[in-house]
Amino acid sequence: MPPPLRFDLLTLFPGLFDGFLTESILKRAIAQGLVEVHRWDIRDWAEGKHRQVDDRPFGGGPGMVLMAPPTVAAVEAVRAMADPPGRLIALTPQGRRLDQAWIRELAREPRLVLLCGRYEGFDERIFEVLEPERLSIGDYVLSGGEVPAMVVVDAVMRLVPGVLGDAESAVDESFGPDGGLEYPHYTRPREFRGRVVPEILLGGDHAAIARWRRQNRR
Ligand code: ADE
Repeated sequence: MPPPLRFDLLTLFPGLFDGFLTESILKRAIAQGLVEVHRWDIRDWAEGKHRQVDDRPFGGGPGMVLMAPPTVAAVEAVRAMADPPGRLIALTPQGRRLDQAWIRELAREPRLVLLCGRYEGFDERIFEVLEPERLSIGDYVLSGGEVPAMVVVDAVMRLVPGVLGDAESAVDESFGPDGGLEYPHYTRPREFRGRVVPEILLGGDHAAIARWRRQNRR
């Protein structure tokens, strides 16, 4: 069996990932040894009595900024824990917009290290010192990088061979190389509030079904 794809998640709120890691497909992928997910609390690398990880921005302005010393120390320590050090990605709304092509590329990596910010953002020196790739999941601002990190883990892990069973259906057909979008799906019951399933889908003519689906792509 190939080695698992390893994710390292660095965050101030590791608990946010609890349900995400212990339910459904990801839970099974971890149990099967296809995917490994490690969570790290950046605060564990913070110094001083208060173990401070964020502070007010120099120059004034709202919000708090993630501090460079604990963040850089955490990332460097985590990357050094295993070989290879992994591809480092910081989640930020100022990053490059995520798409399925990027996800496909990430799914070929052995290890991904995802750095979640909080508050107003990262101290710029975190980027200067660590030179992470910067990834945004879209043009809107969330309160932290944890939900975007879950988006990355979810979209990547489902492309790892063996993670999806037949029942969950294949890869990324909607955004595949031919760019065809998905067709409408139906399951039981055959009739719902007067709306019936297209007759062609109920027969066994696979060529006709394939044609119908091609014609009804969205
Ligand atoms: N952190 C806050 N908002 C974000 C977004 N849209 N994408 C990635 N990280 C974020």
